[in-house]
Amino acid sequence: MTSLSFTHRYEAALTEGLPPLLLLHGTGGNEDDLLPLGRAISPGSALLSPRGKVLENGMPRFFRRLAEGVFDEDEVRMRALELADFVVEAREAYGLGELTAVGFSNGANIAAAMLLLRPESLAGGALLRAMVTLKNAPIPDLTGKRILLLSGASDPIITPDNAAQLAASLRDAKADVVAHTLPTGHGLTQQDVTLTHQWMLNKRT
Ligand code: MLT
Repeated sequence: MTSLSFTHRYEAALTEGLPPLLLLHGTGGNEDDLLPLGRAISPGSALLSPRGKVLENGMPRFFRRLAEGVFDEDEVRMRALELADFVVEAREAYGLGELTAVGFSNGANIAAAMLLLRPESLAGGALLRAMVTLKNAPIPDLTGKRILLLSGASDPIITPDNAAQLAASLRDAKADVVAHTLPTGHGLTQQDVTLTHQWMLNKRT
């Protein structure tokens, strides 16, 4: 679907009362990528899945980067606010309650930036393979926001220190953070799906 300010897919809820999800793909993904993950971790939830507007060698992303792991913070800020505006638009268009982000890699990074810069845009989020993109991020009040951080012990892109730093900054902002380091790399595994599903059911994982 190309209406609204981002090309996106929308699947209406099949069951009332479940949190709607904002699905945010990784570099080179698109709006179709995370629909199966969304259906698996919260069957029956409404799914809103935008496509990143930036192209890196033809690969969609949610913000431009200078190199792998090197970010232009002004760009990250601008794109996070742009996506937060889309969330407002889409919630109105589809009559949705507060969205929980489920982001992978670049999608997890933009979700973290949205939580730090426009906290009211999300109820919380499952951030799969997220890293620090904003060195001078504000410390908003994230009280009541549930955040799941799943990192890979042998992730070649994100060091364990970097993931721990992101968890610390979200905890400083008083978010309810659950963080796990899984015995894997950057790619998602069945354990990511299982842990995120349990977290969605509001179980401590
Ligand atoms: C990013 O650029 O957001 C991170 O390096 C993750 C990635 O997309 O590779």
